[in-house]
Amino acid sequence: MCIEELSDTLIDHFNYPRNIGIIDYPNGEGFNGDPKCGDYLEIYIRVENNLIEDISFLVFGCFGAIATGSMTMELAKGKTLEEALKITEEDIIQALGGLPEDKKHCSNLGVTALKNAIKDYYSKEKN
Ligand code: FES
Repeated sequence: MCIEELSDTLIDHFNYPRNIGIIDYPNGEGFNGDPKCGDYLEIYIRVENNLIEDISFLVFGCFGAIATGSMTMELAKGKTLEEALKITEEDIIQALGGLPEDKKHCSNLGVTALKNAIKDYYSKEKN
């Protein structure tokens, strides 16, 4: 694979990942690691009135993990929890303008961490 095969959007999200770090006062946190390659991603959300008001992530991983994590931020921010739960790996891959075949599994990190963060939010709300 050479860099010419990657979309401009993907390269941009890799070079300038959006919403990196830990937001103030998160009320949901989710994690996910990929045992196949050891990459790891954490997501922090702040939910107000059923909307993801703010979101951020930390990642240890390959360029695919960084770019897909960043795109997960863009797709989830401002969505209702129900809408955010419907975001798929394919949505992220499409929004990035494609991913090399051997990097498609990277998109699972953000999607699953987001679901886990929402689950964490619901369980904190219940308590
Ligand atoms: Fe496994 Fe990117 S998350 S290679």
